[in-house]
Amino acid sequence: MGSKPRSLSGIKPTGTPHLGNYLGMIKPAIQLQETHETFYFIADYHALTSVRDPEQLRENTYDLTAVFAALGMDFENHAFFRQSDIPEVTELTWILSCITSKGLMERAHAYKDAMAKDQEVSMGLFSYPVLMACDILIYDSNFVPVGQDQRQHLEITRDLAIRFNHLYGEAFVIPEAIIEKEVATIPGLDGRKMSKSYGNVIPLLAPEKQFRKAVMKITTDSKSVDEPKDPETCSVFALYKCFAGKKEQEDLAERYLAGGLGYGEAKQLCFETLNAELKGPREIYQQIRNDKTKLNGILESGRDKARVIAREVIDRVRDKVGL
Ligand code: ADP
Ligand code: TRP
Repeated sequence: MGSKPRSLSGIKPTGTPHLGNYLGMIKPAIQLQETHETFYFIADYHALTSVRDPEQLRENTYDLTAVFAALGMDFENHAFFRQSDIPEVTELTWILSCITSKGLMERAHAYKDAMAKDQEVSMGLFSYPVLMACDILIYDSNFVPVGQDQRQHLEITRDLAIRFNHLYGEAFVIPEAIIEKEVATIPGLDGRKMSKSYGNVIPLLAPEKQFRKAVMKITTDSKSVDEPKDPETCSVFALYKCFAGKKEQEDLAERYLAGGLGYGEAKQLCFETLNAELKGPREIYQQIRNDKTKLNGILESGRDKARVIAREVIDRVRDKVGL
């Protein structure tokens, strides 16, 4: 750890991680290890807005830790931890809440969606963006790799940091989002955004058979084998593109346009390409998923690294506001 820019991101332990999480957040986040000091955490406080089963919450947390381990996260040199192991983040949330206008929260997408669907809105869901801003600001983060759906949360974070700095003097680093353009939103089995809440996911490190079955279930139009097909509107092609090289992508696009390629064959090709990348990680995942001693060790060492920075920042903030 040292002078490299700091990259931070979080993921909620709300279910099985899927290909959208992988391409939108996990993969780019892990790649940043090469050039950045990274702080990644499991957003278990955030998950409390929807997960009500304590055992499930704990198991989901281990699941994500094992997934990051299997995909090559270097826990020695980077911090990987539970959000709830850093109590300074909730202290900062109160302080920032006091300079956050209710109107800003009312414009947040998650809140607006819940209102539109007539769902009950807890205070946790309503003030979710403040907690997320604090997750980022408490570690002096420079960059935040996330999927497109988190863009607004990053804008809110920057607004709050700028407002605090303006009111009390420089305390926060202003972070920037890193959003992979190519993979901005991965479609799910039904063509909508792949999301745990839509039940349309392809689980990332599921056993091979189950993984293949999910890929074969991707919805396509009903064109016959002979008909030319449009790669740009096809979910199978959209996924394939994220895993294949440029030449392979061009070759498959040509076969789509020429006709003679059935969706069954396209899906099989897609499965093989995805599987080539995920086979190795899947094996490592299976070996370590139930080794709770190891997984706890990873989370504890991450906590110790993260807490040092969180303490520095909270001290700075307390001083600025007069506590
Ligand atoms: P979900 O919508 O399945 O509950 P999360 O909200 O836990 O997913 O998202 C975790 C991370 O994965 C975020 O950075 C988010 O932007 C990214 N992500 C989730 N779904 C997708 C998707 N379909 N395409 C690209 N990125 C995604
Ligand atoms: N809100 C993010 C999601 O739903 C998870 C998250 C919480 C996060 N805190 C964060 C992401 C801080 C990046 C930085 O996926």
